[in-house]
Amino acid sequence: MDRIYLDHNATTPLRPEVVETMLHVLRDVPGNPSSTHAEGAAARGLVERARARVAELVGASPDEVVFTAGATEANNTVLAALARGVAGTGHLVTTAAEHPSVQEPADALEARGWRVTRLGVDADGRLDLDALEAGLAEAPALLSVLWANNETGVLQPMTEIAERARAHGVPLHVDATQALGKSPVDLARVPADYLSASAHKLNGPKGIGCLVTRGGADLAPLVLGGPQEKRRRGGTENVAGIVGFGVACELAHKELASRMESLGALRDRLFEGLRQRIPDLRWNGSREHGLVNTLNVEFPGAAGDVLLQALDLEGVAVSAGAACHSGSISPSHVLLAMGRTAEQAHASLRLSVGYGNDAAQIERVLEILPERVARARAAAGA
Ligand SMILES: Cc1ncc(COP(=O)(O)O)c(C=O)c1O
Repeated sequence: MDRIYLDHNATTPLRPEVVETMLHVLRDVPGNPSSTHAEGAAARGLVERARARVAELVGASPDEVVFTAGATEANNTVLAALARGVAGTGHLVTTAAEHPSVQEPADALEARGWRVTRLGVDADGRLDLDALEAGLAEAPALLSVLWANNETGVLQPMTEIAERARAHGVPLHVDATQALGKSPVDLARVPADYLSASAHKLNGPKGIGCLVTRGGADLAPLVLGGPQEKRRRGGTENVAGIVGFGVACELAHKELASRMESLGALRDRLFEGLRQRIPDLRWNGSREHGLVNTLNVEFPGAAGDVLLQALDLEGVAVSAGAACHSGSISPSHVLLAMGRTAEQAHASLRLSVGYGNDAAQIERVLEILPERVARARAAAGA
């Protein structure tokens, strides 16, 4: 039996169109985009075409897109530039449910004397807008907010957050890594100043992503060492990766509406089927304000890591928390921020659907998972 991959928030399979185009580049486009000969110009042309595709998906202009090695680098670039741009120490406002690639640079700022305000989230994982208002009133150097949470799929009210940041004159950074390709992300509608993303979350390759800076805002580069990306990020461009990212963005742009509908139907069937069979399960997050592909559920009395392993042996890949945390036994900080106990967090699984999943696979998971939950509960004496 083929395996069933339900871990699309960790990473996604490449679309065949992406693979084909990348293979062509790897095989037939040897030039360095900085070179002035024909080989260089061919590579440069492809990079610029990809840049336009990425820009189109996020509602920015191509000039505003800087390619990076991924969202981790983009997030680090923004927070490191912040530290360099402010004389002495300053104030950063962010949330208690960020991805580690914002959390850890924020911790590093704090260790250097910065004040970091981590805004709380409610039981559904949504930001408290009154607390946001109070944080903004203190005129911090930056507000950094995760658009869609990687663990729960919870979407923040980004338009409102961006409007409030603007009203207070506070620059806004959004990590849109999970939102891109699964939910509308349009900087024309959400006036953020900086946006981070990674190609591999939307069926593109790993190791490539971007930082979008609105108005081409001058950010001190994190990676120095060359004139590439208009001196905003040194180093020879990952041409094949960039081209693959561009194709993935073009597909996402064309297919967003149909993708959201089909993934939402799979996710909803999965939840309804589980709820019929396991009545006391609990949704972690917000069904109304969540990514259509993400289901984070608590199975009270069953250990998430035990379930994960049992499902893996049955050919089903899921996550018991953020991918970056797997192997670690510390409970998810996102679920703790939502008021769950460590025990509840340990009893939770993340199932995220995406390209390649179909209704038959979901039915198969509905046959396997409830029985595994019953066994895990019996083993735990629940
Ligand atoms: C919300 C979010 N931000 C940032 C990242 C980091 O992406 P990458 O590992 O591709 O740099 C991830 C990946 O897990 C993510 O989900």
